[in-house]
Order: sequence, then structure tokens, then C-alpha cells
Amino acid sequence: MYLRHLSLTNFRSYARLELPMPEGTVLLCGPNAQGKTSLLEAIYYLATGRSPWTTSDRQLLNWRAESEILPFIRISAELCSRRSALTRLEITIYKASENGGFCKEIRINGAKKRVLDLMGNLNVVMFLPQDLALVEGSPVDRRRYLNVVLAQTDPNYAAALQRFDRVLTQRNALLRQIAERRATTRELAYWDDQFVQAGSILVASRQRLLRDLEQLAADIHRQLTNGAERLALHYLPGFAPAARENGQLAHHAPSLELQHPLTPSEIEARLRSALAESLREEVVRGVTLIGPQRDELRFSINGRDLGLYGSRGQARTAILALKLAELAWMREVIQDEPVLLLDEFIAELDAERRAFLLERIQGASQALLTTTEPEIFTPAFLQKALVWQVRSGQITPFHS
Ligand SMILES: Nc1ncnc2c1ncn2[C@@H]1O[C@H](COP(=O)(O)OP(=O)(O)O)[C@@H](O)[C@H]1O
Ligand SMILES: [Mg+2]
Repeated sequence: MYLRHLSLTNFRSYARLELPMPEGTVLLCGPNAQGKTSLLEAIYYLATGRSPWTTSDRQLLNWRAESEILPFIRISAELCSRRSALTRLEITIYKASENGGFCKEIRINGAKKRVLDLMGNLNVVMFLPQDLALVEGSPVDRRRYLNVVLAQTDPNYAAALQRFDRVLTQRNALLRQIAERRATTRELAYWDDQFVQAGSILVASRQRLLRDLEQLAADIHRQLTNGAERLALHYLPGFAPAARENGQLAHHAPSLELQHPLTPSEIEARLRSALAESLREEVVRGVTLIGPQRDELRFSINGRDLGLYGSRGQARTAILALKLAELAWMREVIQDEPVLLLDEFIAELDAERRAFLLERIQGASQALLTTTEPEIFTPAFLQKALVWQVRSGQITPFHS
């Protein structure tokens, strides 16, 4: 799939942009703070209904539009994919009243839709420098990673995630009321059912995704390390009340055997018994202590935990393998080529890994790469790519 046209209104530094887009590889060059990242951010927003960096849509509004009484942001694109020759995606983020917050309106081919309906139209794989720190980062980052990959490809997952977040908030509020003796534990039953229902969808999908990603990533990783290292993924679902949250491996929370996945009813049973087991402590602490909001993903190389024992270089190689596995996985699931967005990613890699990655993204229908240093790309790559210059929100083909 590829975007044929992108229009932006009041999105970040783009007051107005009408950009016809080609198939193939485009290298967006320019100094810092010119609008390269913002362009990729807008495309990511069309795929996921959110920005990879901010949850506050207000930040996306062009500063010059801030003084308008009812300002709005619009991102729209024409998408060509195997499934449909042409799909028009349009997101308007607007202020409905002067003192209110921002609302979102989604239109697909002109018809009003829910944010959930947006998912699965445009699929992107984004490569960010911060992905390379995923091994060292917090479990929150790794859960977000899983959510973004799954929500984009599986509307059921996206819906379950939305439900789960709401249920968790409600359940936590109720636990606080119980702690203050303003409610009884009997009132939990309803929320526990909802929690287990939505939660087990999340666990089952994550388990399946990680099983597939592990196989693909291990294979790519073997090539990247000339067969010297064996990468494995470990899914530690938050079934155990004591799962630690500090980014370290919680040794007592066993990882699932990805090759022998739990069945949906087993997952439900595990969630239920974990809820029952942790009830007393949850009431004391006024917060839900078990569940997929505490899931953890760990990486190991030759059987040793990468976050604890790996070098920086090993962690980066593992993440590069994971991202390429994600790309292969997505191709398979959507039966199409996702749009690739690489923000300053290439510059973060050494020459060998750079060549490895660039070779593997060659087949993409559309890949957008940003860089401040076009000279790091080989002449052979530059010859095949279109090179565009980005300056103060203006995008022009570059002629050397
Ligand atoms: N809401 C906004 N309105 C106008 N400009 C913004 C907004 N948000 C960020 N910017 C500015 O947009 C510029 C471009 O940012 P960015 O896309 O990250 O550039 P690049 O990736 O080329 O370095 C930055 O100078 C930033 O300060
Ligand atoms: Mg940038």
C-alpha cells in the first residue's frame, strides 16, 4: 500500500500542505526543526488515530492557529492498497466550543466513522531511534509497542484495549471506594467479569504475536550475528500479583511457553484466580495489581536476559531484528506492504546494520526516511530513492 496524496492543515509547523506522493523510497533531507518528523507523525496518526509522542492533540495544532476561536487540524490522505484501489482517510481534530477540549472526527471515503474503524486501513511500520532503547526502557514502552502493532492490524484488539482501559479505571476507582468503606467487594463482580473478558483478548493476542515475532526475529537475528547468537522473546503476563514494575525481570513470574500457547479459557481462568488471590492487597492499596496492564516482554540472547546482561550493541541488534520481524509479520497479516516510516533511524546504526536494513526495505511499496545527513547513504541507494528537501515546512525535490 502507499499514500498517493497527503494534505495537512494546521498540523504542527504545516499551516497548509498539499503533497502528491510517489511510490518507492523517498529520503526527506534537511537541517533540524524543519518539519521532517512532523510529516511522519501525521502519517502515523492516520494509521493509529494518535501521535507516537503525545496524547494531547492540542500540541499538534499549528501555533498560528491557536488564536482562532474554533481552531482545527486536518490530516487527510488518499491511500492505494491491494484491498481497495482508493481510500480517502480524513481526520479532523477540532474545538467544538470555545472552552472545551479537542474532539476528533474520522471520515473514510467521506462517511463519518469511529476511531476504531480507522484502524486497519493504513498500516505503517515506524522505525524510531527510541525503539533502539526498547530493551533498556521501561515495561510501559514494551507494552505500548505491542499495543501499537496489534491495534493497527486487529480491530478486535483495538476495541478490547479501549474497553480494558475503561474497565481498569472503573475497577481502580471502586477499589479505592472499598478501601474507604464506601462500597463493598461484592460490587467488584461485574467489573471483574469485564476485566477478564477484555483482558484475556489482550493476553491471547500478545501471546500469538510474540510467538510469530520470536520466530521471525530469531531468524533475522541469526543472520545479523552470523549465527553466533540466539535471540528469544519471553512473554511474562501480569498474572502474578508481585510482578515488579522497575524494568527488571520478575524471576518469580514465569514466562509463557510461546510454542504452547494458553487457550482462551486457560487465560480467563488464570486471570480470575489471580484476581481472587490479590483481592486483599488490592483493597488495601486501592489499585488493580494483576492483569495485562502489568505484562512484561523480555529478550534473551543465548539464554541470558538481554536487559540485565547484554551490551548496548547487542540490545540494538535485537531491536533491529524485532523491527524487521514486525515488518515481515505485518506483510503476512495484511497481505500487503505496509508504509515504512524511518525517522533518523539509519543514522543510529553502524555501516553493517545500515546496509542490512536498507536492503530489507527495498521491496516496500512506499518508504519515507528522514535524515539530516544524506551523505551517510550510499550512492547506489540515493540513485534509487527520490530525495526531497524539507525547509520550514516547504517540501521540494532536491537537485544536487
Ligand atoms: N504545534 C506546532 N505548531 C508550530 N510549530 C510546531 C508545533 N509543534 C512543533 N513545532 C515546530 O516544528 C518544527 C519542526 O519539527 P520537526 O518536524 O520535529 O522537525 P525535524 O524533524 O525536521 O527536525 C520545530 O521547530 C518545532 O518547534
Ligand atoms: Mg526530526
